[in-house]
Amino acid sequence: MAYLLSKLVVLGGFAGLAASQASVTVDIGTKYQQIDGFGFSQAFGRAKEFQNAPASTRQKALDYLFNITTGAGFSIIRNRVGSGGRGDSILPNSPGSPSGKPSYIWDGDDSGQFWFTKQAASYGVKTIIADAWSAPGFMKTSGSDATPGFLCGTTGHSCSSGDWRQAYADFLVQYVKYYNEAGFKITHLGFLNEPDYTPGYSQMQISSNAQEAISFIPTLYKTAQAAGVDVSLICCDAMGWQMQSTYTTALANAGSTQYLGVITSHSYTADARSPLGQTDLPTWNTEAGPGSGSGNTFVSTWYSRGANEEGFTWANKLAVAMVQANLSAYLFWEGFEIRQTQSGSHLVDATDGTEPKPSGIYWAFAMWSRHIRRGRAAGAQSVKTSFGGGVSVGDSAQAWLTNQGNTFASTEAKTDGAAVTVSVPGRSVVTLKVAGGSGGKS
Ligand SMILES: *[C@@H]1O[C@H](CO)[C@@H](O)[C@H](O)[C@H]1NC(C)=O
Ligand SMILES: *[C@@H]1O[C@H](CO)[C@@H](O)[C@H](O)[C@H]1NC(C)=O
Repeated sequence: MAYLLSKLVVLGGFAGLAASQASVTVDIGTKYQQIDGFGFSQAFGRAKEFQNAPASTRQKALDYLFNITTGAGFSIIRNRVGSGGRGDSILPNSPGSPSGKPSYIWDGDDSGQFWFTKQAASYGVKTIIADAWSAPGFMKTSGSDATPGFLCGTTGHSCSSGDWRQAYADFLVQYVKYYNEAGFKITHLGFLNEPDYTPGYSQMQISSNAQEAISFIPTLYKTAQAAGVDVSLICCDAMGWQMQSTYTTALANAGSTQYLGVITSHSYTADARSPLGQTDLPTWNTEAGPGSGSGNTFVSTWYSRGANEEGFTWANKLAVAMVQANLSAYLFWEGFEIRQTQSGSHLVDATDGTEPKPSGIYWAFAMWSRHIRRGRAAGAQSVKTSFGGGVSVGDSAQAWLTNQGNTFASTEAKTDGAAVTVSVPGRSVVTLKVAGGSGGKS
């Protein structure tokens, strides 16, 4: 397991430090939250685009994203459970009524996400999220998966077609079973995406008191249990930290958190800056991006003016989220796309159609994700090191520098027994790693 062992793990020269030496003490005897990993999605056709890319392009992009020595070593993927028509959803047609027999269709492709999952797994990815943006349209008050509506049968939403809660739970668990049976274990299951937002694609609403989620979660939990499907339920992928905080209060007060494994939020309308606090469940930022409008293009810039699309902006965001908001995982929106440079919402792009290139933001993620991975830390077991105040770190400290001119350049880490000294230039980030003991002390 990898744990955040200090509040000062990634040392940022956030303000362009002046000439005086900054003194940093890392107490590796203090253990903070467990880190579950870092990741991204290839939803909405991007998995298929990835799969259809030329073989060498595909291989290079996969290495950029998943390789733990040459790439970012991402360890979490987030697949979309389709809720639309045939080719998108495993249940394109209504069984007529909630008690009708559903005709599931598994095409073994899942819009390219099955191939993508297989590739990720071949690099050792073990954390797989399946998240539904919506229930199939016929289960909703609006009758469509792509217009605002609620799940029929949840508190406050009765429909003439009946109560579809059990049918939606069956649908979600069936999706998980298709992957599990093929040997790719879905570890986390979500039934909402941005329920506080009403776009014109797959989406489903909940009220700010989360009453719909509260009235559905126990059904989903019991259905997974009864099917023998071992999966952690997640909720609610709100647009921002503030709304997710409101939802979490409601879920905790209603006792719903006992059925959940992780609290999930996005960070479009509010960044994660402080712990949610209402529950002891781990919290993950499951989607993030530079937003829309200016300052949202695909660029390799690390720092130029502090824009949303630059790497250093994200190095700051990640450090604040991981350290101050007690996050256990952080996922960007998409991974690989081809010639989509008008938007900075992905990490690697084959800008000329064949040669994948990482964005500046990619490096901000890589400095965390390459070295901090759940369950990958058992090295050096033969070295007995005790941790606590006044610990001896020996000469095992390593440091890497990332800034506008360097990507993961090895840099000097001076150790003198209990302390490690590194030089952190302005507008750059130094990743410091101290090895030894039962965990990778990143
Ligand atoms: C990662 O990259 C290294 C160096 O190119 C290579 O030897 C290794 O096989 C790659 N790992 C995987 C899982 O492909
Ligand atoms: C941080 O998260 C962990 C779960 O990962 C929880 O047990 C702990 O109470 C949280 N700490 C704070 C300060 O919120």
